[in-house]
Amino acid sequence: MKDSRQDLTSRILKLKKERNAIVLVHNYQLGEVQDIADFVGDSLELSQNAARTDASVIVFCGVHFMAETASILCPDKKVLLPVLEAGCPMANMITAPALRELKEQHPGALAMCYVNTTAEVKAECDICCTSANAVQLAQKLEAKEIIFVPDQYLGQYVSMKTGKPMILWPGYCPTHARIQAADIARMRKAYPRAEVMVHPECRSEVSAMADFVLSTGGMIRHCRCTGATQIVVGTEMGIIYRLRKENPDKMFIPVSEQAVCPNMKMIGLENVLWSLEDLAPEVRVPEEVRVRARKSVDRMIQVS
Ligand code: 13P
Ligand code: SF4
Repeated sequence: MKDSRQDLTSRILKLKKERNAIVLVHNYQLGEVQDIADFVGDSLELSQNAARTDASVIVFCGVHFMAETASILCPDKKVLLPVLEAGCPMANMITAPALRELKEQHPGALAMCYVNTTAEVKAECDICCTSANAVQLAQKLEAKEIIFVPDQYLGQYVSMKTGKPMILWPGYCPTHARIQAADIARMRKAYPRAEVMVHPECRSEVSAMADFVLSTGGMIRHCRCTGATQIVVGTEMGIIYRLRKENPDKMFIPVSEQAVCPNMKMIGLENVLWSLEDLAPEVRVPEEVRVRARKSVDRMIQVS
C-alpha cells in the first residue's frame, strides 16, 4: 500500500506546478510541511521571497501576519494561508487606534513596528522591521524618539544594542515568554561546552544570558558555520527539525520543551493540499490599508 504522506506529497507537488504556485514555509512549521517547501526561512527572508517570485499563487505556511505581509507586497498574486485561524497572539496585542493614541502622545516620534503586527498597524507606522534587521534599522533612524510596537522584549533588546531610548508597548510572545532564566542556567550546567543561542523575543534576562541573540534565519546560518558541536536553542521548537536535518553531526538541545507555538502547528500536509485544490482560504489586504502599510514594509526591505 502506498504511504499516504508520500501520496499527499506527490499530489501537492503536482498541483503546485499546475497552479503555478510557490510554497513559502516558516522555520517553526511542522517538519512534513518544511519538506515540501520551495523555500523555508524567517519572516524577512519569506517576505523577500514573496516580493520577487513569478508564481501566481503563494501558499504561505506560517501565521496570519506573514500571509498579510506577502499580500501587501504582491497585490496581483493570490496569497493563501491554508488554515486561516493560524494567528499570532502577539500581533493582536496592539491595534491601530491604540497606536494612533500613542503617536498623539509623542508627536515628534517615529513609529517602528515589528513585522508581527496586523496590516492596519503597519499602515500607521513609519518603518517595519523583523528580528533579523531591527537593530540595523533602528541604528539608521534619525529621530528624537522611537515608538516600538508591540514586542517589549525585542524593543528592549534593540534599545540596549543601539543606545537609543524607546517608547515600548507591553506586548510579548506567549511562547518565548515561557523560556525562563532558570532554564538557561540549568542548560549551562548540564552542557558546559555548548553554545547558547536565543531569539530576541525572549525575556530580557534570558537574552542577557545567551552567547548569541538571533532571528530564526540567523540561527540557521550560525549553526552551519560554528565550530561548536553542542548548541542550546532558545526559541520555538519547530526550528530544531531544520537544524538537525542540515547539521546531522551537531547536537541541538531545546532550552525548554514548553516553547511550542500552537498557531505554528496548525498547518499539515492535508491543509496545504486542500488549499491548492480550492485556491482558498485567501488573505487579501484592503487596498487603502495595503498602500499605506506597503510604505513601511518597503522602507524595511530597501534598508535591509
Ligand atoms: P523570525 O523572523 O526570527 O523567523 O521570527 C518570527 C516569529 O514569529 C518568532 O516568534
Ligand atoms: Fe507569534 Fe510567538 Fe507564535 Fe511567533 S512564536 S508566531 S511571535 S506567538
